[in-house]
Amino acid sequence: MALFKLFGSDEEDRTAKILFGSAEESREALIERKNPYTGKVVSRYPVCSPEDAKRALEVAKVAAKAAAKAPLHQRIAWLEDVAAKIRENQEDFARLIVDEIAKPIHFARIEVQRCAETIELTAKELVHFVGETIPTDVAPSGREATAYWRRIPAGVAVCITPFNFPLNLIAHKIAPALGAGNAVVLKPTPEAPLTAYKLAKLFIESEHAVPDALSLVYGDAEVGSALVKSPIPRVISFTGSVPVGKIISSEAGIKKVSLELGGNAATYIDKEANLADAAAKCAFGSFYNSGQVCISLQRIYVHEAVYEEFAELMAKETKLLKVGSPYEEETFMGPLIDEDARHRAKSWVASARDEGATILVGGEEVDGIFPPTVVTDVTDEMKIVCEEVFAPVVSLVSVPDMETALEKINSSPYGLQYSIFTDSIRAAKAFIDAAEAGGVVVNDIPTVRFDVQPYGGVKLSGVGREGPRFALEEFTEIQSVVIF
Ligand code: SIN
Repeated sequence: MALFKLFGSDEEDRTAKILFGSAEESREALIERKNPYTGKVVSRYPVCSPEDAKRALEVAKVAAKAAAKAPLHQRIAWLEDVAAKIRENQEDFARLIVDEIAKPIHFARIEVQRCAETIELTAKELVHFVGETIPTDVAPSGREATAYWRRIPAGVAVCITPFNFPLNLIAHKIAPALGAGNAVVLKPTPEAPLTAYKLAKLFIESEHAVPDALSLVYGDAEVGSALVKSPIPRVISFTGSVPVGKIISSEAGIKKVSLELGGNAATYIDKEANLADAAAKCAFGSFYNSGQVCISLQRIYVHEAVYEEFAELMAKETKLLKVGSPYEEETFMGPLIDEDARHRAKSWVASARDEGATILVGGEEVDGIFPPTVVTDVTDEMKIVCEEVFAPVVSLVSVPDMETALEKINSSPYGLQYSIFTDSIRAAKAFIDAAEAGGVVVNDIPTVRFDVQPYGGVKLSGVGREGPRFALEEFTEIQSVVIF
């Protein structure tokens, strides 16, 4: 039983209507999604009810048994098939991402390519995802037996995904979950229902698919709660905000919970660094995807000896960025996802200004787009410094040494990724050792993420790791076996 269907699809203007579950009977439940740049309607789709969510979980519970028995070669072929089809449909996927979230086309294409790679990497990882034999006679109290441990599918997984990478962040969850032999209920972001639908369809319609192993529910917090609280799923994998992550943690009960939450990424520019290179990279890392990246660069601490020079270079690089229509090939940055996000960026920057900050570049909305904004003369207490802004806003702070920079960087309640620009290996090593973060980057921005690497944070940034090999661990349990 396919748990969703698409009807009335109109390729011309890319509007589509999606119906799911009980919303099939109640058309008034349809939600309209508009492109954040053009304001044109992109889709109408239903919010499922909590009952739909429970029904999806019941289906997944049955499917999980078949999924666990599906041979590895079938699961690998399944992932490879989906990845190949994503590549065949690369341009369609990219344009859909632009339509739904206004990510500039150049970066939408990169996301599609990354998505195919994430799935292919998962397929490769599965070949080596094995256990070990155990020498049970290693301790005097032991005795000889045939013993080993292996990884077994957890059962049913609920995957809840965000808007900022509406394709690849789904792949990071459902590819390892399905590849490891689970059944999945996916609740994608309400901002990009069609992108999720198109990807889910490839999984579901593959000739190698395990029937009913994947279903898709669209919904609000109530639907999310119904999925999370249910005793059926054994794993909840969520990417999104800290407040929602806290609710999930408290509602999930005894299950595996993997949370990839926010960040407040920072970098330190040492006096021994290539400043021109650092400024170009920092402009990219602060404003890429309009700052709507968990590892978007938000705080730049610069050694006082090079602060003035760096600030000038940073301002120059920022002004070079092309802002405008996400449909244009040359556009680097488009609009924020919605009015709320724009309002947050505007008001946080305005209150920083009121409290004494200087706007070096940007700060004022132009044609509905909040522009790349560089702020100086900030204090540690300003929201744009100490909270996650999730918008194209970065602060520059002069510091006397790396220790001061690290103190300020680590004072954040988050700990996702940090970076340092330096030519000194000693400084780099000291920074790596002291950084309280899930990831550290040397001589590039903290916004660097290779899909193969373990990705996740410490402190409020979450628990668990993504990246195919590490996500496979999240979606499986260890079973210990002893045979006499
Ligand atoms: C995120 O915002 O956490 C995802 C970043 C990425 O995949 O590049």
